[in-house]
Amino acid sequence: MKQKVSRIALMTSGGDAPGMNAAIRAVVRTGLYYGLEVYGIMRGYQGLIEDDIIKMNSRSVANIIQRGGTILKTARSKDFLQLEGRQTAYENLKKRGIDGLVIIGGDGSFRGAVTFSKEFNIPCVGIAGTIDKDIAGSDYTIGFDTAANTAVEAIDKIRDTMEAHDRVFVIEVMGRDAGYIALHSGMATGAESILIPEQKTDINDIITSLKEKERRKKLVNLIVVAEGDDFGGGNEVGRVLKENLPKAEIRVCILGHIQRGGAPSCMDRTIASRMGYHAVESLLEGRHNVFVGITNNEMNYIPLEQAVKMKGTINEEWLNIVKILAK
Ligand code: F6P
Repeated sequence: MKQKVSRIALMTSGGDAPGMNAAIRAVVRTGLYYGLEVYGIMRGYQGLIEDDIIKMNSRSVANIIQRGGTILKTARSKDFLQLEGRQTAYENLKKRGIDGLVIIGGDGSFRGAVTFSKEFNIPCVGIAGTIDKDIAGSDYTIGFDTAANTAVEAIDKIRDTMEAHDRVFVIEVMGRDAGYIALHSGMATGAESILIPEQKTDINDIITSLKEKERRKKLVNLIVVAEGDDFGGGNEVGRVLKENLPKAEIRVCILGHIQRGGAPSCMDRTIASRMGYHAVESLLEGRHNVFVGITNNEMNYIPLEQAVKMKGTINEEWLNIVKILAK
């Protein structure tokens, strides 16, 4: 193995995701295993600019694999969008002799890394971490599995009261640009309809179908809406349904940030551990400016420059299955 780096730093950036701590643990312990010095940057790029950097050791990451959130905290830095901010960030790395950077986050965080590495020649490696699972090039992103399971657990509870009252429930799950949480949690909870940003929402179609169900006395109906759905999210869908179905008892529930917290699932802990390990190996092997993803259960290294939000790639078959099964 060619060792091209000796001191690395890592950060979590953008929205947090359950499993980020497991990735931090994996990066720190793999780095130490290979004899590197490892630094943790607090609050993402903002902490890098503000020189909020701590030396990590094996104990700093003890007892965190099971915890949600991120011990390094996270932020969406506006200052890093400016050259002046990036210059300060570079100087803070340089004065410590840090020659490799691991960024755990989503496509926005990866775009920051591309600019930074080009301007200052800092080798960067990304780890795909976002509950939305919206990064092209990886079948998994850290946090998605936990978030989808949290949504399923919450929707199951809502179903109890929904059934008891013969109600229609509109439940909004997270996903500003991607409908994966909605698609997975909706299918897993037997939703009648799933509304996602990748597909134009035909509200009249839903109204007609609910009216037809009303006629045959099927009063319990579950509609799962991704927050980024083009019709305007859960509240708007609920408002229009209430207007058009005066006899139905319609309730709206926005699940919100509950989906970002909690103990990571086994799946998220294992992919985070594997990605963290391979991110450090990538830096050591000179495979720079890529992010680590997983495709067909194999590690996948995609140039950071190609990291883009995955949009419009929802498998139509899933929605068709949901329709057929929701009779
Ligand atoms: O991390 C992704 C995400 O949870 C989106 O689904 C959501 O739209 C957004 O972050 C919310 O961000 P914030 O916590 O900054 O309001």
